[in-house]
Amino acid sequence: MARRRQLYEGKAKILFEGPEPGTLVQYFKDDATAFNAKKKGTITGKGVLNNRISEYLMTRLAEIGVPTHFIRRLNMREQLIREVEIIPLEVVVRNVAAGSLSQRLGITEGQRLPRSIIEYYYKNDALNDPMVAEEHITCFGWASTQDLDDIVALTLRVNDFLSGLLLGVGITLVDFKLEFGRLWENDEMRIVLADEISPDNCRLWDSKTGEKMDKDRFRRDLGKVEEGYQEVARRLGILPEAGPRDMSGPEVMQ
Ligand code: TMP
Repeated sequence: MARRRQLYEGKAKILFEGPEPGTLVQYFKDDATAFNAKKKGTITGKGVLNNRISEYLMTRLAEIGVPTHFIRRLNMREQLIREVEIIPLEVVVRNVAAGSLSQRLGITEGQRLPRSIIEYYYKNDALNDPMVAEEHITCFGWASTQDLDDIVALTLRVNDFLSGLLLGVGITLVDFKLEFGRLWENDEMRIVLADEISPDNCRLWDSKTGEKMDKDRFRRDLGKVEEGYQEVARRLGILPEAGPRDMSGPEVMQ
């Protein structure tokens, strides 16, 4: 493929200009960060696995009618996506208490919540992604009330569907983070699921043993980080054919 122009580099992904107008290429890196990049590292093969896992989950979601930015996977580390206007929110859904919820409110990790909770964080690294209320979001124009209605409806569908899909392979979906974008088609705007869904932005615990299979293994120095991501892919039946050795993928072209 011809050399592409890099448009944006994030902590775990790079966005390149796509082959056609309105498309982008999303490249998955092995870089891992936590605590707003205070902790940095590399998880070998993570980019390859997240590319596959996110492709798989976004495709399954599209099959039940959840609109997403995903078009198709191009190779081991890249996928073709629709260019969207990212809404500057991290939408977190929690089914079981963990992480910052447990820390802030003193709720024991692992306690199942009586109902799912949706939280919003303003996507702004300089401010450390502060938690915000609907009032802030509409007041500052990050999203309208109608946008938020759509976001909540989609988020609840994603949560129910993914919770069931993952439970089917012995994984509890503890919590996760979604991002949404505005997709313009002719003069119509639609809110679609964007970014990625992978062990980088989900908490995934073995349903029987409670063992963690997500980025908390990196955040908390639990070891066997690669193995956790691989196990999620293996259970979903999508481990790259040649196994973990087949994970270097193509180099970034700049
Ligand atoms: P938290 O418990 O640290 O608030 O995280 C909740 C969920 O959101 C968890 O599944 C990890 C994910 N997450 C991200 O994807 N990006 C982030 O920057 C943070 C803080 C959490």
